[in-house]
Amino acid sequence: MSVAATKPLLSAIDIVQEYAQPEGKVLRVLDKVSLTFEQPSINMLLGPSGCGKSTLLRMFGGVRPWNVATPTSGRVEIEGQACVGPHPDAVMVFQHYSNRPDLTVRQNVMYPFRFNEWKRRVSEKDAAQRVDQMLAEVGLADKKDLYPSQLSGGQNQRVALARALVLRPKVLLMDEPFGALDAQTRSHMQQLLAKLHEVHRCLVVFVTHDVTEALLLGDRVIVLSTQPAKVIDDFSIEVRQPRSAEWLNGVEVREMHERVVGHLRAAGAHGNVRVSV
Ligand SMILES: Nc1ncnc2c1ncn2[C@@H]1O[C@H](COP(=O)(O)OP(=O)(O)O)[C@@H](O)[C@H]1O
Ligand SMILES: [Mg+2]
Repeated sequence: MSVAATKPLLSAIDIVQEYAQPEGKVLRVLDKVSLTFEQPSINMLLGPSGCGKSTLLRMFGGVRPWNVATPTSGRVEIEGQACVGPHPDAVMVFQHYSNRPDLTVRQNVMYPFRFNEWKRRVSEKDAAQRVDQMLAEVGLADKKDLYPSQLSGGQNQRVALARALVLRPKVLLMDEPFGALDAQTRSHMQQLLAKLHEVHRCLVVFVTHDVTEALLLGDRVIVLSTQPAKVIDDFSIEVRQPRSAEWLNGVEVREMHERVVGHLRAAGAHGNVRVSV
C-alpha cells in the first residue's frame, strides 16, 4: 500500500479565514476549523447563513477568491498532499448549475474532457462511453441533444451532477445544490444522489441549510457555529440508504432534528434555516 493511501482522503487542519473590512477591520469567518474525512461517505455541512460554509467548501476544492489569500492560516490536504489550487480529484457542484447555454446536454457533460488534465487521463473513446453511461444514470439519455434552456431546473442540476461524476472524482463538493428547486424536484434529486452514491463511492461534502435534507442523506452531520465559525456538533448516522419513511418519521430522527435546529437557533439563524420540507 502506498503512503498516500494511508492518509485521510480530505482534511482541514486548523483553518482560519479572515477577510479585510473597511477601515482596517478584519472579519474572522472560520476559526480553527479542523475536520477529517476518511471514508467514501456523504457528509452534510450545516451552519447559519454567512458563517463560512461556502468559504470552507471552496477551499476543499482548491478554489481561491480573487481578492484574498485563503486560508489565512491552516491547510487543506487531499491524501496528505497540501491542496493549494484546483484539484482534479475534487469536483464542485453549485446551486447555480453553471451549464453552458450554447452546448447540448451531452456536450456539457463532455465538457471537462476538453481540458489537458482529462485528455491525458481518459481517451476520447472512453470519455464518450463514460458520458453516455452517466447520462443514462441521471435519466437524461433521451434529452442529450437538448440545450439547457429547454430543460427544467431539476434536469439542469442532473446535467451538472453528471458533469461532476463523469470524472469519477474522489471528492464531490456540493454547495446547496438543490436549494433552488421546488420541494418535489428536490426530493427526487435527493433520492437520485443517494442512488448514484451507491455506485460512485466518492467522498461527498454537501452544504445545506435544510436539516431534513441533512438527516435524509448524511452519513455524518457537521454543524458550524455563527461567525467566527467553529465545529459545534459532528455526529454519524449509521442507517443505510434508502432510508425508510418509517425511520425518517421516527423518534430518532426527531431527536436529531431538534438537536441540530437547537444549535442553529442558538447561533441566531431563525430566518435562514429550513427546518422541514
Ligand atoms: N471573497 C470575499 N471577500 C470578503 N468577504 C467574503 C468573501 N467571501 C465571503 N466573504 C464573507 O465571509 C462570510 C462567509 O461567507 P460564505 O462562506 O459565503 O458563508 P455561507 O456559505 O456560510 O453562507 C460572509 O460574511 C461573507 O460576506
Ligand atoms: Mg454559501
